[in-house]
Amino acid sequence: MESFKQFDHDVLVIGAGGAGLRAAIGAAEAGASVGLICKSLLGKAHTVMAEGGMAAAMGNVDDRDNWQVHFADTMRGGQYLNNWRMAELHAKEAPDRVRELEAWGAVFDRTEDGRILQRNFGGHRYPRLAHVGDRTGLEMIRTLQDHLVYIQNIQVYMESTVIRLLKAGDRVNGVVAYDRERGEFSVFTANAVVLATGGIGRAFSITSNSWEYTGDGHSLAYNAGAALQDMEFVQFHPTGMVWPPSVKGVLVTEGVRGEGGVLRNKDGRRFMFDDIPENYRAQTADNEEEGWRYVQGDKNARRPPELLTRDHVARCIMREVREGRGSPHGGVFLDISWIKTRLKDGEAHIKKKLPSMYHQFKQLADIDITKEPMEIGPTTHYVMGGIRVDGDTQMSTVPGLFAAGECAAGLHGANRLGGNSLSDLVVFGKRAGEAAAAYATKQSRASAPQDAPAQVMSEALSPFARGKEAGAESSFQVQQDLQTMMQSLVGIVRREDEMKKALDGLEELKRRAAKVAVPGGREFNPGWHTALDLGNLLAVSEAVTRSALERKESRGGHFRDDYPEKDPVFSKFNILLRRGDNGEMVVSRENIPEMRGDLKQIVEEQK
Ligand code: FUM
Repeated sequence: MESFKQFDHDVLVIGAGGAGLRAAIGAAEAGASVGLICKSLLGKAHTVMAEGGMAAAMGNVDDRDNWQVHFADTMRGGQYLNNWRMAELHAKEAPDRVRELEAWGAVFDRTEDGRILQRNFGGHRYPRLAHVGDRTGLEMIRTLQDHLVYIQNIQVYMESTVIRLLKAGDRVNGVVAYDRERGEFSVFTANAVVLATGGIGRAFSITSNSWEYTGDGHSLAYNAGAALQDMEFVQFHPTGMVWPPSVKGVLVTEGVRGEGGVLRNKDGRRFMFDDIPENYRAQTADNEEEGWRYVQGDKNARRPPELLTRDHVARCIMREVREGRGSPHGGVFLDISWIKTRLKDGEAHIKKKLPSMYHQFKQLADIDITKEPMEIGPTTHYVMGGIRVDGDTQMSTVPGLFAAGECAAGLHGANRLGGNSLSDLVVFGKRAGEAAAAYATKQSRASAPQDAPAQVMSEALSPFARGKEAGAESSFQVQQDLQTMMQSLVGIVRREDEMKKALDGLEELKRRAAKVAVPGGREFNPGWHTALDLGNLLAVSEAVTRSALERKESRGGHFRDDYPEKDPVFSKFNILLRRGDNGEMVVSRENIPEMRGDLKQIVEEQK
């Protein structure tokens, strides 16, 4: 039998982005011994790609803001499919989490009188995003990591990938992982496991997501018997780079629009004014002089249509491109340089507020954003769906298994508002870590897993043994074909016939994935790592496709050409996916519990 190392902790946290770091801190401060396992080096999390800020109703820039408005905005943005308890907790606790980061050393941008500065973002009624230029995610990771490294009872296992959750009866009691550098296996035992593995963007060919985002947590949880929820809701961020081809999909922060960036088509027209949703029209008024819209009766509250929700903006961009009004490389133009006409020191202002964007475009596309417009188009950015969890504790439907951050479902419903991700990570990371510690200490010690690890390790090594078999192919080829298929058949605009074709395609890709062969040895072998990722990518792709077929309407991040309208019938339930007895994916509908009366009243008042 394969040799492996053994480790034991009270709580294991898988993933070291914002949610994982905050969960590890929460669990450790509650007295648990914590193992933190991350696929990359500590500090290299994808969280850094959430650039524009962290939403929290602090009211520093507009004192009308409060948790109730944030709650109502989040529910409206999610088209009321959200777990309303999570939306409530998130809106109430986000300001404390921002202040906590500040106390731990995060260097936020400031108002003139020294408070944390907040900027506009899509779907948020008031300027709400605490930010550090356009590097907010990076500052969050730096701060959390800095805090975490001084905590004694956290052990970090870097460059390790978890390939299976282990169970004793119904309960999770450990994981099997491999070390990416040496290719050696480890078995970890623990009474509780927190998944904080992020998203699934690598299932698509155009994505802002980094290489780690292969749906690992979703797939690990699903295979361990947990329910996934609302996987059809994939967010296509309206602004990713479209040129040059090598950087297609790289994120262009919504902070650009938050700072005043406008979208234009090839004729120079601000096309976002062409499709103004009724509720937005009712709340706002034209300002003819400047071409902005303002909140009715409040000339200080600017609401440009570029800051409508991401799903809407992405579809407007697609319309311009489809109808022949796009930019030379298949996107549209995003222009921030115009603000020089309004600000005395506009060029310096752009460089100060958007330093990463300035460098990104200068270095990758030879574009000076202080002088020229950027070319942008939608990019796969975020999955609202994920592991179904309890709103207060973040425990999944499997005892001892918790999830937080992007891999958990509920907070964002059908569409996430920009900036609600960073706050989600720390609000629910903390809750998950503390709840996992409390759960772990109440259980008897997890018994060491017996046979399961041997089988997992032998399956994981099988691509090496297949080297010369007939029909064996490269894991990279299978991954690329999967991404191309998902982008074209289950992407931003969906139709039943295409998604059914995708399901057939997925069956074929599963057959091919079972035959991939990997040359070389186990030390840092990307072909092997990709072969192991394939199972996760296939599982989440199937989950997205089956849920998208089930939802015969258009809502939030899910747009169906064959059902272009919202259907009230579909506003009443979430779509769940579970692994059936024969390994098949079972789709079901779960009614959304009725919202508490006081929260209903808030929603009504904020309409
Ligand atoms: O556009 C952005 O800066 C992304 C932020 C987010 O997705 O929350």
